[in-house]
Amino acid sequence: MPLQNKTAIVTGAAKGIGKGIAIALAKEGANVVVSDIDQKEAEKVAEEIRKIGPKALVIQCDVSKKEEVENLFRKTVEEFGKLDILVNNAGIYPFVSFADMKEEDWDKVMNINLKSVFLCSKKAAEVLPEGGRIVNISSVAAFVGFESLVHYCATKGAVNAMIRALALELAPKKITVNAVAPGAIETPGAKGPEEQMKQTIAMIPLAREGQPEDIANVVVFLASEKSDYITGQTIIVDGGWTLR
Ligand SMILES: NC(=O)c1ccc[n+]([C@@H]2O[C@H](COP(=O)([O-])OP(=O)(O)OC[C@H]3O[C@@H](n4cnc5c(N)ncnc54)[C@H](O)[C@@H]3O)[C@@H](O)[C@H]2O)c1
Repeated sequence: MPLQNKTAIVTGAAKGIGKGIAIALAKEGANVVVSDIDQKEAEKVAEEIRKIGPKALVIQCDVSKKEEVENLFRKTVEEFGKLDILVNNAGIYPFVSFADMKEEDWDKVMNINLKSVFLCSKKAAEVLPEGGRIVNISSVAAFVGFESLVHYCATKGAVNAMIRALALELAPKKITVNAVAPGAIETPGAKGPEEQMKQTIAMIPLAREGQPEDIANVVVFLASEKSDYITGQTIIVDGGWTLR
């Protein structure tokens, strides 16, 4: 198995895309730290992973809080002795028009979607060995605009720019830093009215919503040795949505 004996942290892993990633990494043999603010749901994901075979540890962590992030990395290394893969997945996308957007709305999205990537990547860079991996979950919102998501689009564009610079700094240690930019993925967070979903699917060339597994498959690739020569890149996984 390609990720046998690797240790991975997945943030926001209790639900949706993060849950899909945590399970997919475990299926490839990785021991997984299932991290989220929602401990109860995270425990369920950890149970699923243990049934697959690898070890799973739940560590509650709000990725926007420095002390909690430090605790996440400290406990991971205490338990598994090392870290090989960090997946920065946790993120929020609260819809609010620009006219109604308050400074608090802006700060919250910046802190959870962007500052978190700084905090977690910084701790990861201290402990990742040669061949280590950082994989970020960005969004097609980095490439196209979405009304009522001005703050969100800004964070995802920033992640894509940030990883190019970070990839350069970590290249001497042979640590790669990449991102996956999902399109419309069926998750608890993205659940909307059925009519809206139909309209979205009508715009997607491959004519379906994506599933967390569609994103997880690419994360597994970016976490494995098969992606050894790729760094600083963002791979769009959107069924062709943004092609036209
Ligand atoms: N679903 C989509 O269509 C879609 C599209 C593009 C990008 N994304 C990105 O994928 C990622 C996951 O999205 P999703 O749709 O699975 O979301 P979701 O809301 O279904 O799940 C997100 C998980 O993150 C956790 N979380 C929220 N705030 C947190 C915090 N401060 N610290 C730690 N964990 C926190 C939640 O508890 C939840 O378990 C996000 O970064 C999102 O921007 C999603």
